[in-house]
Amino acid sequence: MLDEFKNLRSKQDLIILAIESSCDETAVSVVKNGREVLSNIIASQIEIHRRFGGVVPEIASRNHLLAISNLYEEALKQAGISAEEIDAIAVTYGAGLMGALLVGVNFAKGLSYALGKPLIAVNHVHGHIASNYITYKDLKPPFLCLMVSGGHTAILKVSDYHKFKMLGSTVDDAVGEAFDKVARVLSLPYPGGPEIDKLAKLGKNNIKFTVSNALKNTLNFSFSGIKTSVINYVHKMEQKKEKIIPEDVARSFEESVTDELVEKTIRAMKLSKSKKVVVAGGVGANSMLQEKLRKKAKEIGGEAFFPELKYCTDNAAMIGSAAYYYIKKGLGRADLTLTARPTIDL
Ligand code: KG4
Ligand code: ZN
Repeated sequence: MLDEFKNLRSKQDLIILAIESSCDETAVSVVKNGREVLSNIIASQIEIHRRFGGVVPEIASRNHLLAISNLYEEALKQAGISAEEIDAIAVTYGAGLMGALLVGVNFAKGLSYALGKPLIAVNHVHGHIASNYITYKDLKPPFLCLMVSGGHTAILKVSDYHKFKMLGSTVDDAVGEAFDKVARVLSLPYPGGPEIDKLAKLGKNNIKFTVSNALKNTLNFSFSGIKTSVINYVHKMEQKKEKIIPEDVARSFEESVTDELVEKTIRAMKLSKSKKVVVAGGVGANSMLQEKLRKKAKEIGGEAFFPELKYCTDNAAMIGSAAYYYIKKGLGRADLTLTARPTIDL
């Protein structure tokens, strides 16, 4: 296999079959040369988990298992290639839910063994960043990245495809988690982020929900305080039997959270003298965040990039793109000893 990795690096065209199963989306994609998506198949389990108000790990793994073989067949079919034409198999090995990740990892190992193709282990966060390479064909590092998902909130300096430095991160909840919890207290369906996004458009910014001041002069975030104040507000209003206007709660919460994300990102851009900021992760789909960050980045002579909506949330194309750049740098090589990692360093 060692020689095969060496050969891969020097191949002119690289076709990667990528697998993603870290949470509640089972996804398989075929990506050519890191930027051209030949197929991108996603089986979402949102409807299954909705009745529980969030992802149930055991149910997620079981459904990944049910879906993955068919998705693999479908991904090859839509890409119009045979299994022999694949150059490498890439898979998300962390971070994520252990049981969910294991389904993708084991399937990828099986394929790698059966087809005799090299296996590439991809960090999910690197995948989210790479989703921008698919959307913007000319985008290249260096740039700053605002990483906003259900599991991560951070500002990163991306100095090369494989060089990441954490400039700041959340000290408690990820921003997506805060969106989902606030949605839940408003009895909105899971996942809450898109629901808050829609509702906020109809509401007024007239309730004072603020983020903690303690981290004001840093590039770190804290969202647990604002999440709790929304929850307390709703409970108090219910106790007093007063009418809650969900649109106003959503709007007031979203305004504060997006202001905080944008303010710290702009500060990081100024500090690192970076003109480009690339957003990654599911919360990147948020319309208010997009509008504010685009505007503020422009004001300082910079530019904000957001992945195309379908690549904001979990997908396998982004894993195939990240794997391409790993291969070019001789990174990510894995074998049949690969296992899933629920938490993982940058
Ligand atoms: O990146 P992602 O698909 O999965 C993780 O790796 O975590 O992010 C999922 C998160 C969820 O918390 C979801 O509510 C949030 O992204 N999200 C949004 C929007 N669309 C998805 N949050 C705010 N506004 C949206 N439009
Ligand atoms: Zn994700």
